[in-house]
Amino acid sequence: MSSAGPDFSALLARRTQRMQRSAIREILKVTEDPQIISFAGGLPNPSTFPVADVAESAAKVLREAGPTALQYSTTEGYRPLREFIARRYWEKRQLRVDPDEILITNGSQQGLDLLGKVLLDAGDQVLLERPAYLGAIQAFSAYEPQFTSVTLQDDGPDLAELEAALDQRKPKIFYAVPNFQNPSGLSYSAAKREAVGRLCAARSVVLVEDDPYAELRFRGEHLPTLKHHCPQGVLLGSFSKIVAPGLRMGWICAPRQLMDLMVTAKQGVDLHSNYFSQRVVHQHLVDHDLDAHIAMVRGLYGRQRDAMVAAIKRHFPASVKSSEPDGGMFLWVQLPEGVSVAALFKAAIARKVAFVPGAAFYVDVADDRHLRLNFSNSDEARIDEGMRRLGEAIRELQAG
Ligand SMILES: Cc1ncc(COP(=O)(O)O)c(C=O)c1O
Repeated sequence: MSSAGPDFSALLARRTQRMQRSAIREILKVTEDPQIISFAGGLPNPSTFPVADVAESAAKVLREAGPTALQYSTTEGYRPLREFIARRYWEKRQLRVDPDEILITNGSQQGLDLLGKVLLDAGDQVLLERPAYLGAIQAFSAYEPQFTSVTLQDDGPDLAELEAALDQRKPKIFYAVPNFQNPSGLSYSAAKREAVGRLCAARSVVLVEDDPYAELRFRGEHLPTLKHHCPQGVLLGSFSKIVAPGLRMGWICAPRQLMDLMVTAKQGVDLHSNYFSQRVVHQHLVDHDLDAHIAMVRGLYGRQRDAMVAAIKRHFPASVKSSEPDGGMFLWVQLPEGVSVAALFKAAIARKVAFVPGAAFYVDVADDRHLRLNFSNSDEARIDEGMRRLGEAIRELQAG
């Protein structure tokens, strides 16, 4: 036996060959050095977490529900929490969702895995945006699909490409993040939402709409969900960005047939999501003003976004392009021709700044020109200093 322990290689499932560690988690290890200014993680700002309110809600649940709150429960999730989510979709988004079509999950990430479990066999086609959310690539990869991607333009997917890919590849899933996408920060226009919904509604494909950032909009009005235009679509949501991610509370809204299968699949995974956590989140939502809380988060992230956009203008060469998102937590940067992101990453780490190279978000093309910057978890002074160092590194690489 080697010091690495016994070797199980001959026993491993084939799917493990497709299971890659998140490039971001690997990068985050580099950034554990407290001197590094990191724009790499996708972390909400911990200063926004409602610590005292959650403590109060947890105490109240234990006081009032006692042992029931610590007992096993149903797989679908705590009914009043599902009703709260359905009511909020109606009040905030004018979307009708039946609480019976909502499954509470361990963050929306688990919803992605459950979808893969009930929909994908090895070799099935999955259509993604280009670039695409890394966590979805990871979740679906375990089910060994073939990935194809559609160009994401400033206002949503290239519709001609999408239509051709739907018709030629006949994917089982089209996975979309229409609001302030991770990694690009881009959002679909109203017209593209309608067109994407219409294209998918007319075909045999599951439109998976992952929407953790919609409520983090600093500018403009809410636009309709894709589900407004494609009622048979699946919609994923999360409390991670509007309350706190460590609670691991998300949900998936799906038509009955998929819902029933995902409930069965989830029983095999974890029986149900943490029931105490569901009760605490529900108590928190009932007793505290979620809208006021979200307004505070939006105000903070909006200022941080403005600081990053301004610092990029100040410190980066004009040939660098960057997105200017109206919400969310990320900004997407395109380097000028001839400047390699891989080289910039090394130069940046040497200057104690970190970001995520774009390559991690591509499944079918190589990329060495884009990078993702997170603005939600750094204050304005660190944002300015970080952009100054990055700008300096870009100029140095440009100069060769
Ligand atoms: C697009 C997208 N989907 C899903 C998730 C996972 O979130 P959760 O904490 O709800 O599992 C994230 C997290 O960053 C995300 O950006």
